[in-house]
Amino acid sequence: MRAYDLILKKRNGQELTKFEIESLINGYMSGNVTDYQMAAFLMAVFFKGMTPAETSELTTAIVNSGEIVDLSGITGRKIDKHSTGGVGDKTTLVLGPLVAAAGVPVAKMSGRGLGHTGGTIDKLDSIKGFNTSLSKEEFIANVNKIKIAIGGQTGNLAPADKKLYALRDVTATVDSLPLIASSIMSKKIAAGADAIVLDVKAGSGAFMKTVNDAVELAKAMVQIGSLVGRETAAVITDMDQPLGNAVGNSMEVTEAINCLKGNGPDDLTELCLTLGSHMVFLGDKAGSPEEARSLLEKILQDGQGLEKLRQLVENQGGDVRFIDEPELMPKADQIVDVKASDNGYVKRIEAEQIGLAAMTLGAGRETKESEIDLSAGIVLTKKIGDKVTAGDTIAVMHTNNREKIAAANQMITEAFVITQEKTDSPKLILGLVTKDKVEVF
Ligand code: URA
Repeated sequence: MRAYDLILKKRNGQELTKFEIESLINGYMSGNVTDYQMAAFLMAVFFKGMTPAETSELTTAIVNSGEIVDLSGITGRKIDKHSTGGVGDKTTLVLGPLVAAAGVPVAKMSGRGLGHTGGTIDKLDSIKGFNTSLSKEEFIANVNKIKIAIGGQTGNLAPADKKLYALRDVTATVDSLPLIASSIMSKKIAAGADAIVLDVKAGSGAFMKTVNDAVELAKAMVQIGSLVGRETAAVITDMDQPLGNAVGNSMEVTEAINCLKGNGPDDLTELCLTLGSHMVFLGDKAGSPEEARSLLEKILQDGQGLEKLRQLVENQGGDVRFIDEPELMPKADQIVDVKASDNGYVKRIEAEQIGLAAMTLGAGRETKESEIDLSAGIVLTKKIGDKVTAGDTIAVMHTNNREKIAAANQMITEAFVITQEKTDSPKLILGLVTKDKVEVF
């Protein structure tokens, strides 16, 4: 089969078969299909789209390009969660323990981050001794023992996605709905869970700028899940400001612990309860998402979620004193306020810009080789809807690099959009897509 014919077929808007899609992906991985041919194919997909059947075949071909994690040694229905990206997103650290305490096995493989702040694995380095390098056997045994384990990603999952993504990045084909949907779902399916809950962000800081676009992406991913036998639910959430107040590794762990103590920011708590309720429902531990939510609220209130985090830390060799005394986490030596220059109300906080400021202060990696400063980051003291007077502290910077303070200060100031008209704090949960329904709130 010639790549040329498949490019032509897609360019003319015809539907490709399972065999044709498999040949293209396998050929690309073996070197028989060149980068320029694949680039032309991706551009044809960008303009002509893909049918649900094609999108699901593409996803399966990407999954089959690498290893598929076998979690069958874990008892119970394993539910994974994925977020399409967010600044200040520490939900895994809150959700994992809550959902595990409800009896759903949480087998979480996470990565180290490239970008604004570290990934979940970097964040967990803030807890002294916490070991995320688990063998497959330890990982499975830990989940069976206490219902939760968080380990670094091992194995070669969905290598075709890495190769395709790198090509999309330089050929203006990243923002194609079937390509995003297959990219995200291939990695989740290869990671081995039985069902998947997605947090699809909409807003200025997200891939999908509008709720409608986010719903369309969610529909495509839920449909792939149905077609490959992994039930999927997607919650559409607002991303017009960072999630919670903390952006930076050790600060985010502290905020997650506070959340499990019942003292978390409202948006973080609400998001974790909402995503968690769908995980618990899909994990067959409640008859409906509403019942699951009541269960999780109780688990949060009576401290079972915090207790589960303590077990997780202990089981993976971490120092449990960090749970009771988060002040033990790494601390920066420079702590500097950012002041508002105008009076008014916070209308928006450009999440991307706050993320870049956190990275400037040392919280993230610009390249794979960069070292993360776990203590660096930003704590927002004002969020959308808050009234500010010139001179009020809107955020606090933490860093060990004095030279970066002025630049980060300017980025944070610019990220805050302050207007004269009163603004309400935004609705966080904007929609829900499941195999049975699509709701926009
Ligand atoms: N995240 C992914 O993993 N893939 C995409 O294509 C876009 C966002």
